[in-house]
Amino acid sequence: MGTENKHGPLYFDLNTGAKMPAVGLGTWKAPPGEVGEAVKAAVKAGYRHIDCARVYDNEKEVGKALSELFASGIVQRSELFITSKLWCSDQAPEDVPKALAKSLQDLQLDYVDLYLIHWPFRTKSGSKGWDPEVMAPLCLPETWAAMEALQASGQARAIGVSNFSTKKLKDLVGYAKVPPAVNQVECHPVWQQPALHEFCKSAGVHLSAYSPLGSPGSWVKGEILKEPVLIEIAEKLKKSPAQVALRWGIQSGHSVLPKSVNESRLKENISLFDWCIPLDLFSKFSEVHQQRLLRGDFALHESKSPYKTLEELWDGEI
Ligand code: A2P
Repeated sequence: MGTENKHGPLYFDLNTGAKMPAVGLGTWKAPPGEVGEAVKAAVKAGYRHIDCARVYDNEKEVGKALSELFASGIVQRSELFITSKLWCSDQAPEDVPKALAKSLQDLQLDYVDLYLIHWPFRTKSGSKGWDPEVMAPLCLPETWAAMEALQASGQARAIGVSNFSTKKLKDLVGYAKVPPAVNQVECHPVWQQPALHEFCKSAGVHLSAYSPLGSPGSWVKGEILKEPVLIEIAEKLKKSPAQVALRWGIQSGHSVLPKSVNESRLKENISLFDWCIPLDLFSKFSEVHQQRLLRGDFALHESKSPYKTLEELWDGEI
């Protein structure tokens, strides 16, 4: 499963042989002016994994923070695991290397540890946003081949996908020459994704969990930190509901990517490795009502998107 201490994995093994730290700092919705400080505070608190994406519009500030950390000797590049993602408007094969080059430039790096196709839909080259008006025909096999070339070039040490259903991942495993190392998806106690996880395990793909706290305080609807089961377990273990949600992910075999720009919450979210959820309490997660919170409605369109319905986008996993 991974590199363990007596309470569970600190790292998960990828099918490339690389080790991915079990906790990563999420940077989606981390605002400009705050994300750089958050990255520095996180690395000082022990984070070794930062999850980025071009569309988050903050990679420049992340890159500045990283270069300051390297210059001050607090951490070396080789100790960090950095992820970035290919945006939907960059899926044309000729745009794929340019998009990674731009992320590398902004991050001030010469490689990323992991590069992911962000969503299984495509917008017109050069367009912004995800308005269906700018949809372009999806051709994941040709985009994936361009991703494989990035891995061969050494600029992406591993490649993978994000927001892929079990069916889309199965299809990809079928046509890929280089199998995906990771599928990064919404995953937390309220959306546990057991079928997807089983397929990932059988295919050697690591499942990495975004919004592992259910993105409280954002437009994402659902307050998973108020789930009675989480609160009950947190009280019994004298941990916070957030820590219990994250520990559930790690014990389930997922890396978790909590976002925070607050130093004390950053520390709380990585204080997960000197305790565990005992089996009798862990089994209670099966009682939690399941609901996908990040549904991806923006990817739907009657005629312009490959997906008319959420059923089609998620191949029934909704
Ligand atoms: P903040 O950045 O002010 O800490 P997710 O990772 O699921 O998207 O959730 C991110 C949201 O959860 C952010 O709004 C973040 O706010 C908040 N958050 C992060 N850590 C905790 C925590 N330990 N307890 C409660 N809320 C948290």
